[in-house]
Amino acid sequence: MQLNEIIKSRILIFGSNGMLGQRLTEFFLNQNVELLTSSFEEFSYIQEAEYKQCDITDRIKTKKLIFDFYPDYIINAAAYTNVDKSEFEKENAWRVNVKAVEYISQAARVLDSHIIHISSDYIFDGENGPYLENATPNPIGYYGRTKLASENVLKLYAVKHTIIRTNVLYGPTQYGRPDFVKWVIDSLKNKNQIRIVTDQINNPTFIDDLVQAIAKIIELKKEGIYNIGGQDFLSRYDFTMMIADYFGLDKDLVTPILTKDLNQPARRPLKSGLITIKAQSEIGYRPHSYLETFKIIKEEFNL
Ligand SMILES: NC(=O)c1ccc[n+]([C@@H]2O[C@H](COP(=O)([O-])OP(=O)(O)OC[C@H]3O[C@@H](n4cnc5c(N)ncnc54)[C@H](OP(=O)(O)O)[C@@H]3O)[C@@H](O)[C@H]2O)c1
Repeated sequence: MQLNEIIKSRILIFGSNGMLGQRLTEFFLNQNVELLTSSFEEFSYIQEAEYKQCDITDRIKTKKLIFDFYPDYIINAAAYTNVDKSEFEKENAWRVNVKAVEYISQAARVLDSHIIHISSDYIFDGENGPYLENATPNPIGYYGRTKLASENVLKLYAVKHTIIRTNVLYGPTQYGRPDFVKWVIDSLKNKNQIRIVTDQINNPTFIDDLVQAIAKIIELKKEGIYNIGGQDFLSRYDFTMMIADYFGLDKDLVTPILTKDLNQPARRPLKSGLITIKAQSEIGYRPHSYLETFKIIKEEFNL
């Protein structure tokens, strides 16, 4: 993809060691931009990238990092993402997902930087999804409440911003925890029984499609809210069956269950997913089909 419009734009990525952050870093390293990456750890997973460690809950350090780099764009892919732990570690979750967005916004407002912030379908209750961008949020768990509050921070601070809502990220990353697809493949290859819910409906998002959408938003300087998700809506169980089929794995190892049987601390939105018509028409968003993404994953992981 050519990014003619953003020649030597200065792009700062927070959360660069995360699942999305790694792929964003790899993508922007190969573009004609000035890139600075930052995450919680002392070191960068992606060695080639310029990197500064920063705990974004540290207001002074976060603002100094932003002022020193003077970014045109700040992509915030950092977050406290453990949905269940958020129920117990509320203060931590709030500091990372909300307070830190305030600090980023305070600096961005001074520099007139454009923040691209990643949000989630967990801001909805999952009663009547899939959702459009203007649907009414009603989070049913603490993680979802922090993500909704993070969106409101951007609006309150009146900074230039784009909120990208996405759901169930998957796709290869070199480091860190495996994504859902890799976890299913590894589990079934190792003959482990796995229990997968039949009542959570989403449109899982291939991370590289999300990266392309973010690049397009920068290229076209789009502000506002955009849903980014996969082509089709399906249950996590059906998604797992598609994975097992494609990779020739034993489907009998997959047991269908209901979300309530998992007894998880945080409630999950069940009938969820994000309608992407706006992204399709305004930024030309064209997600791969699930089978196309499995082919890419197969090649990249050498499976
Ligand atoms: N994964 C999904 O299915 C999904 C679905 C919808 C929306 N989202 C949103 O998409 C974004 C990216 O998600 P992801 O799955 O890529 O998340 P991830 O893999 O958990 O990565 C999050 C990153 O944020 C960093 N981070 C956490 N606390 C920090 C702090 N205090 N200071 C600096 N960095 C900190 C983490 O560092 P450590 O690893 O050291 O903690 C990690 O590198 C998030 O905003 C998430 O809410 C994700």
